[in-house]
Amino acid sequence: MKALAQIKPPHALKIWRIDDKDSAHLRMDTHTLAQAAVCLRAGGLVAFPTETVYGLGADARNAEAIARLFVAKGRPSDNPLIVHVSSVAEAECIVSQIQDVEQRLMALFWPGALTIVMPVRAGAVCPAVIAHGTRVAVRVPAHPVALELLRVAGIPIAAPSANRSGRPSPTCVQHVREDLNDRIDGIVDAGEAWMGIESTVVEVDGDQTVHVLRTGGITAEMLIAAGFTVAHTASPRHPVADMSTAPRAPGTKYKHYAPKGKLCVVEGAPRTVHRYIQKRVDDDATAGLRTAVLTFADQENIAAYRADMVIFLGPRGEVAPAAQRLYGALRACDSADIACIYAEATERTGMGAAYMDRLLRAASYDCVCI
Ligand code: TXA
Ligand code: MG
Repeated sequence: MKALAQIKPPHALKIWRIDDKDSAHLRMDTHTLAQAAVCLRAGGLVAFPTETVYGLGADARNAEAIARLFVAKGRPSDNPLIVHVSSVAEAECIVSQIQDVEQRLMALFWPGALTIVMPVRAGAVCPAVIAHGTRVAVRVPAHPVALELLRVAGIPIAAPSANRSGRPSPTCVQHVREDLNDRIDGIVDAGEAWMGIESTVVEVDGDQTVHVLRTGGITAEMLIAAGFTVAHTASPRHPVADMSTAPRAPGTKYKHYAPKGKLCVVEGAPRTVHRYIQKRVDDDATAGLRTAVLTFADQENIAAYRADMVIFLGPRGEVAPAAQRLYGALRACDSADIACIYAEATERTGMGAAYMDRLLRAASYDCVCI
């Protein structure tokens, strides 16, 4: 009997499906979300959709749950987590002070893909969430399912992206399951995340300058257009970063989003890029290597690429569809055992800055400008 009692039951991952197509249905599904909320309140690890990527949620006040979360992700303990809340009022409960500029950022961009790092209120979250520091990153997500889950749970939820550390962030439930299936308690499934790239992380200094620690869906141009003074400190290796400044979002110092194959980004005039990539692909194929191309070329040009895999990112000049597809494309290359991946570059303005940041990280900054 004793031996039997020690045997753990097989892990049963719960999937709560929500159809977020219409808000009436979402209201009905509050009952389903309540089950996910109960799991979170009991210290469970629950993945859920946000408008950026899927997050892996845990009660930010529960040290045991947060410790499990770090283990499940294989995340270094010096990399703090974003705390998700459903309103500005709830954010006020976990930070000790809000400056005018931060107040304006919240009013303009919340709910939304903007994370603001502010001084933590003593005891509001467990120390591991903020990597034993003094500041906490806070965000109110815009996805209706995420907002409703946070509202029903009524607790601050720490939620990093729901991937194993070093893997691309998940944009759908299948990605979450690939990485975390037997390591978490449940997943709220509401289809694809909309943006596909993580939130912008900012911090406001004493001079009221908004420092962009990680680029994302809320672009520098949007912040500047709204009247803020903006400085880039995203990463010492990012092309737009101030090289003299150390990264302040610790996560940006780690190698990220790396596919198994070697990724090379190619920048230049479309025809030249096409010729260059096809030549590299042909050489790789001759050497017996499996190849993939991530391209903005239209249908006609896709046919012109000869590779084991050709992934259409979206119309040239449109970054949003490409951003939504990027991580899925990198995962597809892994599943197909692709050894060499070539990706066409985009403009680095607007959302293109975040897109190129993630793409270049995935490529370990291997970028050919022709
Ligand atoms: O869109 C997103 O932000 C997604 C969804 C789930 O909300 N979350 C996400 O979390 O991307 P994560 O853990 O993968 O990335 C959080 C980033 C990391 O670079 C981390 O270092 C930074 O935010 N960060 C978190 N807390 C911080 C703090 N107190 N100070 C500075 N940077 C912080
Ligand atoms: Mg992440």
